[in-house]
Amino acid sequence: MTPLRVTAPAKINWSLEALHIRPDGYHELRSVLQTIDICDTLTLEPAEGIDLALMGHPGVLRDLPPDQNLAVRAAVALREHASVAGGVRITLEKRIPGAAGLGGGSSDAAAALRGCNALWGAGVGDNELGAIASAIGSDVPFFLAGGTAAVAGRGEVVEPLPDARAAPLLLALPEAEDRGRKTEAMFGALTPDDFADGYVTIGVREIVEAGRAVVDGDLNNVFERVTTRMQPGTERAMDALRAQGLVPHLAGAGPSFFLLIADPAKEEAIAARVRELGFEPRRAQLLPRAAAVRIEDA
Ligand code: C5P
Repeated sequence: MTPLRVTAPAKINWSLEALHIRPDGYHELRSVLQTIDICDTLTLEPAEGIDLALMGHPGVLRDLPPDQNLAVRAAVALREHASVAGGVRITLEKRIPGAAGLGGGSSDAAAALRGCNALWGAGVGDNELGAIASAIGSDVPFFLAGGTAAVAGRGEVVEPLPDARAAPLLLALPEAEDRGRKTEAMFGALTPDDFADGYVTIGVREIVEAGRAVVDGDLNNVFERVTTRMQPGTERAMDALRAQGLVPHLAGAGPSFFLLIADPAKEEAIAARVRELGFEPRRAQLLPRAAAVRIEDA
């Protein structure tokens, strides 16, 4: 069993629409998600038990008991499902800021599922892996596919799309802090007035499938309707940028956001402004599917 290195990329949502609340209490979603080139790395080595070493910038993850880390929970769930005798030592190098709306924990979980499936030769098929992923978190199934994908249900229905094209991104990252249950609070803040019909997502899909570049006017994220109340710091910064004629977009459930930088000559000034507004600017590119699901020998 050769140790493996698995990429776990961050994501943004090109569209994120909530249709209604389902009988199980989750929101029925329509979304097009996109992996980007800010990535955690998992190094997986055979071991007796399942344990975790954190490296890089783990932020508040450092205070979380290892058995609650989503990568560990994924490995435990797969080992049980496939009745694997051995274990894994996971070295998780964190680069994706936590609880920022970029899906870092969910991506780590998906990378652990794909990686452990390979390391243990467990041979668990895509459908079963998707079901295990979905039980860990609503965003986890998307990361099994990576690249650009349309998502429905509560996140478990994933349809891979061709890799999208768009201008480079400038992410605005908030300061690290504990935002426990943030996603739940953001969904909980939505009211029926915020619910949509899914047409924005259909539009983005058509653009991506036609190979056209995604631009500002194509994007919509339902959580931008509740940032004023729920994430006032983000709203203030996004408003200040709007006042300059820029078009910031919330990343997932926030509080980070991003801009599409169509004119590279303007990037430096926009980055400086983002910093002035109290966010850390970070350049990113779209990460195509082939790179998003990479597994290599460590
Ligand atoms: O699935 P996950 O544990 O990541 O979801 C966190 C919370 O976000 C859920 O407990 C639920 O309150 C909310 N959620 C939702 N509808 C979804 C996904 C998540 O209401 N489709």
